[in-house]
Amino acid sequence: MDEHSWSRPDCIRVRHLDLDLQVDYDRKILSGSVILHFDRLSGEELVLDTRGLAIHSVENAEGFELGASDPILGAPLRIWLRDSVASVTVHYSTSPSASGLQWLDPPQTAGKQHPYLYTQSQAIHARSWIPLQDTPGVRATFTATVHTPDGLSAVMGAGRRNGRFHMDYPIPSYLIALAAGDLAFRPLGPRSGVYAEPALVAAAAHEFEDTERMIAAVEELYGPYRWGRYDLLVLPPSFPFGGMENPCLTFTTPTILAGDKSLVSLVAHELAHSWSGNLVTNATWSDFWLNEGFTVYLERRIIEKVYGRDREEMEAVLARGELHREMAQLPPADCALHPDLAGRDPDDGCTLVPYEKGALLLRTIEQAVGRPRFDAFLRSYFDHFAFRSITTAEFLDYLRRELPNPVPVEDWIFQPGIPEGAAEPHSEAFARVGAGWPADTSRWTTQEWLHFLRLQDPPDMPRLDREFHLTQSGNSEILHQWLLMAVKTGYQPAYPKLEDFLCGVGRRKFLKPLYTELMKTSNGTELARRIYARARPGYHPIAQATIDGLVT
Ligand code: BES
Ligand code: ZN
Repeated sequence: MDEHSWSRPDCIRVRHLDLDLQVDYDRKILSGSVILHFDRLSGEELVLDTRGLAIHSVENAEGFELGASDPILGAPLRIWLRDSVASVTVHYSTSPSASGLQWLDPPQTAGKQHPYLYTQSQAIHARSWIPLQDTPGVRATFTATVHTPDGLSAVMGAGRRNGRFHMDYPIPSYLIALAAGDLAFRPLGPRSGVYAEPALVAAAAHEFEDTERMIAAVEELYGPYRWGRYDLLVLPPSFPFGGMENPCLTFTTPTILAGDKSLVSLVAHELAHSWSGNLVTNATWSDFWLNEGFTVYLERRIIEKVYGRDREEMEAVLARGELHREMAQLPPADCALHPDLAGRDPDDGCTLVPYEKGALLLRTIEQAVGRPRFDAFLRSYFDHFAFRSITTAEFLDYLRRELPNPVPVEDWIFQPGIPEGAAEPHSEAFARVGAGWPADTSRWTTQEWLHFLRLQDPPDMPRLDREFHLTQSGNSEILHQWLLMAVKTGYQPAYPKLEDFLCGVGRRKFLKPLYTELMKTSNGTELARRIYARARPGYHPIAQATIDGLVT
């Protein structure tokens, strides 16, 4: 059972949805209907999840009732079924403040001419735009018709036939995705391409040039890509995440368009979810590490194959440092791979622990049993559980059966620390960066810059800026690291840039550390409040919720 859903899939289980939705930019609402087709196992009551939805009518039912709303879960929609009925139609509309939708006014887009809408359903926001069984333990197929004003087009994480979207494979609700705005398209290869606003699409196509090579790299390791097309959508800068693995259509932040492909491990990551996550899915949000830990492990294998061992090692070492720093700040209970999320919003479980501790566990098993055996294990894991949602216990059973190994897996999963014997990533390139002032930085990659900057303690900010023009950096990761150092040291010349960055970018990973550091000093607190008052309207509801908790 999933504690983050009102639904009872053990009684009635939804198998297929037919959506028909109208995008109304003026009122900032989606309205229309969904036909839910289900299997009946027991009882007469179909329970759906909703949050902030107005339910206009339910066809083909005895009656319905919208229950009281819970602050985390939203409200249950109870529908009483007649005997032997196997589908109902719900007519509904969304609220302008739906947690899973961001409505952008023209000034918030690159082109400044047209409005834009996109969805973000993970973890439990699908219920804010579709009444459904919003649990990753239920998988359904769907079709959708989306009506947009003339000149604006809609895309979905799905295939397209005769003007309708189709998802023919059963997917969990958190992967249902829609975007609509002024979109252009460029092919990247025979089965891949990129959508973006017209002003960005050429830069995006260049940045993502290696996508076909990445797909080929995963296929070689873990078997065929099973979803047909693999496209990317570059969103406006307020997108609160780096990327989101919507099936057939990864959503990404524009902040990875660095011009030199140095941040494309994010593409490798979202692509890897086509195996770990979308094919084999966490059954509950406490099993999230099965999605993200496996995906980070796969991401690194892709990077190694496409960009070489050096790059992979640098990324692994940087991430190991970030995990170490984050775990030092977290309560011990949140440092286990399988957290207890009772009474909590699953978005709270989203720390580096499921990602990097999860990946480190897999890397440690790989080292213990050898790469060939571990590769064979993973390939058979994806085949065995394909198109299923599984718990950590099911993974453990399968692991014990298929790959007896000397790693204390239970400690990794249920205890807070990093067990002894953990793999330790190492980078020769970083060893060459060294501790002193660098002699020659002309061939440094983004990863070497990040490593170098993180070593500066205390940093000589004026000298660093004079020699390396960091306040002017066009690379979002380097600039973010630099601005964080500027806040920590009170380096004023970078503050105008800091304000621009906080007002222009909505990626939560960047916002959270910057606001947190600002709030630590009295001058910073005032500045944070002033900047946030200006920036907040441009942030996604998910980012607003996070920063509301920090800037008080
Ligand atoms: N599926 C996640 C994003 C997510 C997680 C959204 C939980 C909502 C709730 C996606 O695959 C992801 O992990 N994105 C990362 C980037 C990645 C390279 C670590 C991000 O957005 O930072
Ligand atoms: Zn991920």
